[in-house]
Amino acid sequence: MVHIDQNLCIGCGLCYKDCFGNNLVMEDGRPKVLGSCFECGHCVAVCPKGACSIDDMPMEDIIPYALPVKAEDLLTQIKSRRSIRHYKERPVEREKLELLIEAGRFTPTGSNAQDVSYVVVQDKLEEVKPFIWKGLDTVADTFISQGNAGAYAYRWKKMYQDYLADPSNKRDSLFFEAPCILMLCGTETSCGLAASNIELMAYSLGLGCLYSGFIRRAVNASPEAREVLGLTEKDVVIVLLVGYPAISYERSAPRKTPQINWR
Ligand SMILES: Cc1cc2nc3c(=O)[nH]c(=O)nc-3n(C[C@H](O)[C@H](O)[C@H](O)COP(=O)(O)O)c2cc1C
Repeated sequence: MVHIDQNLCIGCGLCYKDCFGNNLVMEDGRPKVLGSCFECGHCVAVCPKGACSIDDMPMEDIIPYALPVKAEDLLTQIKSRRSIRHYKERPVEREKLELLIEAGRFTPTGSNAQDVSYVVVQDKLEEVKPFIWKGLDTVADTFISQGNAGAYAYRWKKMYQDYLADPSNKRDSLFFEAPCILMLCGTETSCGLAASNIELMAYSLGLGCLYSGFIRRAVNASPEAREVLGLTEKDVVIVLLVGYPAISYERSAPRKTPQINWR
């Protein structure tokens, strides 16, 4: 619930003007809160006097508004991020993982649902790996039985066979020796957007990530993996391998020229 400190409010009406949920009205030159809203926090962000707050939100991590990073720097960062498939044997510090999640947390969500939740798999990674491998094989079998092997089903079966032949070999094409996996649950778009910010944050922290569509499918297909990860009711939407890169790049990678329809 939005709260307006009437001792601080100067009646400028900026909160009212920026209230998308029509939760504020001006009465006698003062904003009045009508009821519940979707708590986007624009009133908090726009108030020149810091008079607005939201009762059930942590207010202590509000920061003063900052100028954006230079466009040139941002584009360089976006172009320089790479999917990392070689990792050092070094755990990721909890503080860094918390910063990654902070980047996800402040990413927009549909209807401000803030419905993205996270599973950080580091301590139990080795315990859960065999179940994820089995899940990958299950996914492959399902695709094949549906006559829909596509480009990957037989590759997944081969990967699983290679794993069974030597489970101690960590140089595989599924986990790539990453020490940590970050999983995002929630709506597809919100998780995807959060993951994108997380990847950029990882790059700034000296870490690297890899989106893994393979592991996503495998986890969701494995009741045992879901049990270990406490995912019994939710599907994983995004899986990111996280770790310190054991590779460095010299330049950005090429991309197709964009198809743009200017109207
Ligand atoms: C949704 C999604 C799923 C992906 N799944 C996998 C995967 O399962 N295994 C893998 O090695 N790479 C995966 N990738 C990484 C892509 O192959 C990679 O982003 C692409 O080749 C471009 O390389 P770059 O990220 O270094 O620019 C995935 C990427 C995305 C966005």
